[in-house]
Amino acid sequence: MALIGVLLTPYGVIGSVLVIALLVYRAALPKPIPGIPHHKKSLQSIWGDMPALIEFSKNSNQTAMEYVTQQALELDSPIYQLFLFPFKKPNVFITDHREGLDIMLRRQKDFDRCGFFQDVFGGVIPEHHMLMPTNDRFKAQRKLLADTMTPSFLTDVAAKHLYQQSQHLVDMWRVKAKVAGGRPFDMDDDINHFALDAIWAVAFGSEIDTIKTQRQFLEKLNSPDLPPDIDAPATLPRPQLPDAFEAIMVLSHSMEDAAQSPFPAFAHWCLRQAKPWKLAKAHKDRLVQDRLNDAKARLLNDDEANIACATDHMVFREKKAAEKEGRDPQFDSPVVKDELLGFLIAGHETTATTITWAVKLLADHPEVQERLRADFKAAYPDAVASGTLPSAEDIAAANVPFLDATMEEILRIGQTFAGQTRRARHDTEVLGCLVPRGTDVFLMANGPGFVMPDPFVRRIPESDRSVTSRETKDRTVPEWDYSDIASFKPERWIRDGEFDPNAGPSRQFGAGERGCFGRKLGLLKMRILFTLLIWSFDFPRLPEALSGYAAVAKTTRKPAQCYGRPCWTLSE
Ligand code: HEM
Repeated sequence: MALIGVLLTPYGVIGSVLVIALLVYRAALPKPIPGIPHHKKSLQSIWGDMPALIEFSKNSNQTAMEYVTQQALELDSPIYQLFLFPFKKPNVFITDHREGLDIMLRRQKDFDRCGFFQDVFGGVIPEHHMLMPTNDRFKAQRKLLADTMTPSFLTDVAAKHLYQQSQHLVDMWRVKAKVAGGRPFDMDDDINHFALDAIWAVAFGSEIDTIKTQRQFLEKLNSPDLPPDIDAPATLPRPQLPDAFEAIMVLSHSMEDAAQSPFPAFAHWCLRQAKPWKLAKAHKDRLVQDRLNDAKARLLNDDEANIACATDHMVFREKKAAEKEGRDPQFDSPVVKDELLGFLIAGHETTATTITWAVKLLADHPEVQERLRADFKAAYPDAVASGTLPSAEDIAAANVPFLDATMEEILRIGQTFAGQTRRARHDTEVLGCLVPRGTDVFLMANGPGFVMPDPFVRRIPESDRSVTSRETKDRTVPEWDYSDIASFKPERWIRDGEFDPNAGPSRQFGAGERGCFGRKLGLLKMRILFTLLIWSFDFPRLPEALSGYAAVAKTTRKPAQCYGRPCWTLSE
């Protein structure tokens, strides 16, 4: 009683509050996983490694992901832990390619999809399979759009859409280059618009017309205000873009913004309360429903030949499955709608970012453009003879090893993705360290061994590697030549005249059962666009001020600036 009396006095209340605050503070201090290297000083603040990361981002041209990888060198270990999210468990980082690949390809029993995708994308596509753990529901749902990655869909359906949208970009840049009077211009938005137009056409079979709208606008533009300096960028006015485009952008930006927050799920919840987000979602719901209705109307006469887009495929597959199982088809379920929107979202920014790196790297490497042009001429003699562009079918079917090598090298150097993430399903071991159940593990693909020499790979004892890693040692890809590992050199991917996807470490599409679903479509989109761009334009080197390699983090790693000066090379 006496103690309660003391606690109820003003001093007692203040003292109790202070003690509770101290206990909460101590409970919130980072708790390291025993045996995994970390910065000792990060344990002294509830903010862990966050202040050092913010400082790095302020003072460098790099993103948080470069800071993260740099810590492998600072801590002198290919496995380490960082405390990046207050009140959360530490994250574990692994830079070793062999072990990372082993986790993704062969250790599905130990590791699964981590919660990051759920936190970032869950507010927009809660029913999409990419958010799910790898269970029966995931497997069944992934099949809904599986046919869109078959060779026949890619060549007969997707290639035509991608080709048409690529032509729109070529036409628009031709007009824009003229209007700009040969000055460079910012290409970032154009590429972003093209990437959405293209994936939209494949997903829904209709045109969103963002690029076409801009071309028509530029054709009518009279005497724009241009800087006198021919090397200064032309800033041209832009038209009002289609409502569908603006709605998808609001949703995409909300996910990008959430991805930057230490509390992505909460950050996204806040964004969802805003009116513009609600309007964009309502618009998107109507768009997807319209596209589904359209597909249903065309496919109810049961003709597979009518399939003209991913939505058609999904409707057709569901109709057949329902017939077989004797039930009503579920054409308009939330799952179907989220799978379609997820197809659009996953296929948009990923390819847009890679293409922005491409135009920068190609402009800085005229010898690569030259070689591509020569190889295209050799691969498409009929198009050369007739003075036309190679067709969609020709490009989809042709073997141009140096183009495949260039795309792979753009991905390796541009690092659209810094790596992949998995969550430990139970207590398990990696590189001789115990990783507790529920730990999010980041498998980095942007540092040692990938784009810089790997000081660890030869130091790791075989006995520290997993059983499956040891069993498959002979399948390990060779190390890159460290003397030029940071250089853009597509020929590193060529062996005996052919493209070798296993020439060295690179993992831009992830791997294993949870690897990128849309890899083939993403590569086809770039293959068609790069062929038409390099065939039609020369991209000269730009002044230094317009060609930096600073990066910014969105849901992908983007160049901070992306200027270009496309010069038409074909006869007028
Ligand atoms: C340059 C283009 C692309 C890049 C670099 C890329 C990269 C990636 C990466 C790194 C992952 C995570 C893989 C992992 O955790 O192992 C992923 C997953 C995924 N990607 Fe892509 N992607 C690209 C294009 C596409 C396209 C065009 C689509 C679809 C139209 C797509 C659909 C998906 C889906 C659905 C997943 C989730 C897979 C799952 O959870 O099982 N991606 N992508």
